[in-house]
Amino acid sequence: MTIRLRTLAMAALLLLGLGGAGAGLVVWLGLYDISATDQHTAPVYHVLDYAMRRSVMARADEDAVPNLRDAQRVRRGAAHYREHCVQCHGAPGVAPGALALGMTPAPANLVATARTWKPAETFWVVKHGVKMSGMPAWQYRMTDDEIWDTVAFVEASVGMTPREYAAMTQDAAPPRHQREQGAGGGATLASAAPRGDPDAGRRAAHHYLCATCHVIPGIVGANRHVGPPLTGMGTRRSIGGVVPNTPDNMVRWLQNPQQFDPLSAMPALGLAERDARDIAAFLATLDEVH
Ligand code: HEC
Ligand code: HEC
Repeated sequence: MTIRLRTLAMAALLLLGLGGAGAGLVVWLGLYDISATDQHTAPVYHVLDYAMRRSVMARADEDAVPNLRDAQRVRRGAAHYREHCVQCHGAPGVAPGALALGMTPAPANLVATARTWKPAETFWVVKHGVKMSGMPAWQYRMTDDEIWDTVAFVEASVGMTPREYAAMTQDAAPPRHQREQGAGGGATLASAAPRGDPDAGRRAAHHYLCATCHVIPGIVGANRHVGPPLTGMGTRRSIGGVVPNTPDNMVRWLQNPQQFDPLSAMPALGLAERDARDIAAFLATLDEVH
């Protein structure tokens, strides 16, 4: 009996090994066509789509849903939607814009989504985005409340006519984002500002594209040398060679490098102050070894 079990286990291991080697070969030979003009094969599409759904279901928090039928909320949500979502997802009577047409996976029509997804799941996707697809995370641009407004609009869009959508969004002023208020450099820093959170800072640094220009220990894919490596940033005396490396100076630098060095090649990235503070706290943890 034990011998049979052992043979079975060996066979299973062998199969796994062969499968792994096969997958490795497909990758190494570049056999899978990653072009966005070529659709996914049906099995790959279904596996990815199912994995996305399961992942969202496992993480959505259904206890936190506010009243989504509130007309004011829907109206505010429509303004957010017109500003941030319609380019990719379209709306009643509005086709998605040019950049959406080349996307694989394609941005879903959210009327169909509202019919089949729970609001908490839509909220989670809008807040966190979807890896390896064009769906961005909005956490760093919108507060939870603003995201709920948007979800309320998505729910209300079921059965909405093009005329109703147009009427709702026509006169809507562009939304003012609570998160971004105070961003952009001129912000005054409250002296009793809360200390940043290094973990949140690491996530925010990933989100604000720091990794596209800097080598940053602790951030996967941060291996570009457009700007100087940030290794050991916590122990450096100055920032950009122009100002002393203090926490407040770092927050100001991150929000607007040009206020210290008008010729700096580092762009102002529109960081909200809270995110700048978190990122500064994260950078302060980078010592010589990191
Ligand atoms: C740059 C394009 C882009 C923008 C802007 C964008 N999305 Fe998406 N979104 C996508 C893509 C692509 C997917 C498909 C992801 C997938 O299927 O794996 C997606 C998926 C989704 C889904 C899951 C729907 C489903 O049925 O699969 C929701 C919900 C969603 N987006 C809501 C929004 C909302 C709300 C906004 C605005 C705040 C927004 N998106 C902005 C591209 C975008
Ligand atoms: C488009 C490229 C680009 C992006 C994106 C970018 N930076 Fe920079 N960064 C630079 C360049 C170039 C410099 C050098 C600027 C100078 O010396 O004037 C720099 C300098 C810095 C410095 C000072 C480094 C030193 O040696 O003193 C810090 C800190 C920094 N960046 C952090 C960040 C963080 C955090 C982010 C994301 C929020 C970010 N950067 C995004 C290009 C970029």
